[in-house]
Amino acid sequence: MADTVPPGRYSGKRDIRTDAVNYAIELGAIEKTFAGHQVLKKVSLRVKQGEVCSIIGPSGAGKSTLLRCVNLLEQPDGGNMVVAGQYLAAGRSHPRRELLQLRRNVGMVFQSFNLFPHLTVLENIVLPQRRVLKLSAEEARERGAELLKRVGLAEKADAYPAKISGGQQQRVAIARALALEPKVMLFDEPTSALDPELAQEVLAVMKEVAASGMTMLVVTHEMGFARTIGDHLVVMEDGAIIEQGVPEEVMTNPSEERTRKFLSAVNR
Ligand SMILES: Nc1ncnc2c1ncn2[C@@H]1O[C@H](COP(=O)(O)OP(=O)(O)OP(=O)(O)O)[C@@H](O)[C@H]1O
Ligand SMILES: [Mg+2]
Repeated sequence: MADTVPPGRYSGKRDIRTDAVNYAIELGAIEKTFAGHQVLKKVSLRVKQGEVCSIIGPSGAGKSTLLRCVNLLEQPDGGNMVVAGQYLAAGRSHPRRELLQLRRNVGMVFQSFNLFPHLTVLENIVLPQRRVLKLSAEEARERGAELLKRVGLAEKADAYPAKISGGQQQRVAIARALALEPKVMLFDEPTSALDPELAQEVLAVMKEVAASGMTMLVVTHEMGFARTIGDHLVVMEDGAIIEQGVPEEVMTNPSEERTRKFLSAVNR
């Protein structure tokens, strides 16, 4: 039986506690070390169902590594977590079936889009539905076309990624992730490779996804997004969360000097 623990119904020795709130993501003392360098130092974080949690912090803080631990693209060395109802723990080997379930529950969007260059926009969205959801070609194309409409790219279905803008490619990447109907979406600086105008198109799509009730964990430098769309703001530095709270409050009145310095640097 899969070691899947519904949120709110487990307790005991595990170092995550739950209460009446439904959390889509609970991280308990996550640790990660690369070549003797501890990149994550017992990071604990809870993201409620339907919440948008933004993560900010200087380069090298461990933001990407933390995100990658959530879907086990990186294996944590310590700690445990519950992600979309699935219990995962460091040091425990997760059968392929569990990993597939996790990857299906957790969509990820990267800074660099990562579309297949030899496939059209629509084919990029059809492929995972065929492979993962085992849908028929017809159904996958139908849903793909629907998703392209949702991200405002219906007319680009037959274009190849190289022929559309970076902002459009990123919207395709979001549509592709949504095609698997994930319970949680992770975004790692989805707009930082884009010109401001193209970034706005992507942020508009992310805003719509947030409004649809998706739980989102977003590493970003877009303070406007974090402030207006984000429900929760997390500040990381040197492998740890140094501050977190309501975005508006953290941004206007940070309690940590390091946060203040970081914010004034990004707002310059
Ligand atoms: N696969 C890896 N092997 C070795 N070191 C790594 C690896 N991935 C990340 N690191 C190191 O871990 C630290 C944290 O990296 P991470 O990419 O998580 O930071 P970040 O906060 O996302 O930074 P940025 O804002 O530049 O993207 C850095 O010192 C980085 O060099
Ligand atoms: Mg990063």
